[in-house]
Amino acid sequence: MTTLRAATVHDLPGVYRVCVLTGLAGEDASSTYADPDLLGHIWVGPYLLYPDAVALVLHDAEGIAGYCVGVADTAAFEQWCEDVWLPPLREHYPRQGSTGQDAALVERLHHMPRTDAVLTAAHPAHLHVDLLPRRQGQGWGRQMMDTMADHLSTAGARGVHLGVDEANAAGRAFYERLGFTELRRTSGARYLGRPLGAP
Ligand SMILES: CC(C)(COP(=O)(O)OP(=O)(O)OC[C@H]1O[C@@H](n2cnc3c(N)ncnc32)[C@H](O)[C@@H]1OP(=O)(O)O)[C@@H](O)C(=O)NCCC(=O)NCCS
Repeated sequence: MTTLRAATVHDLPGVYRVCVLTGLAGEDASSTYADPDLLGHIWVGPYLLYPDAVALVLHDAEGIAGYCVGVADTAAFEQWCEDVWLPPLREHYPRQGSTGQDAALVERLHHMPRTDAVLTAAHPAHLHVDLLPRRQGQGWGRQMMDTMADHLSTAGARGVHLGVDEANAAGRAFYERLGFTELRRTSGARYLGRPLGAP
């Protein structure tokens, strides 16, 4: 049976696996990074620990097949990451300690970018969603996004944003189908947003 439920800390290994298996513009990133945990430390781990996050996992007979994680107040979450989540990781992954593609992620741990207040003004919430190929195209992405939107709206956010890799055309098409529109474009990524509580 496939179930969508709230994540617990015990789901960390499963969500880290999903993160790396979808981490290259939606495709498997395991041969891109030498350390299989770096992507998870940045994109999914903190949401399972942050007290005000919404963290959902899709669980099937083979284990964790996907997740949707988000927060209603991006600025508060980023401050918590600076104060709590990142300091031990910075000790564990010293700068100059990694090479290749890993080095850029380690640099990001040391200099985690803050989301621009212009972006968060109308879209204070943000989220990430990833499903393994075995559960894609079956309506789970939409169901997770609808559930997440309900939670974020109830938590008081009036809009949600997300970032998508420029190379991830399928991801963009999915978000556009769900009513997201482009807010901003940078080299390599697009930021999309949607009001919450709207029909
Ligand atoms: C992107 C992703 C979350 C979508 O979830 P999903 O379960 O496959 O999508 P769903 O089956 O729920 O589709 C929802 C709707 O989007 C549409 N859709 C999904 N993918 C689409 C695509 N590539 N092109 C056009 N429409 C698409 C579906 O047709 C469906 O429309 P409907 O509900 O109106 O009939 C999932 O495929 C995934 O995790 N992919 C790999 C990782 C990734 O790219 N994550 C996003 C990173 S930013």
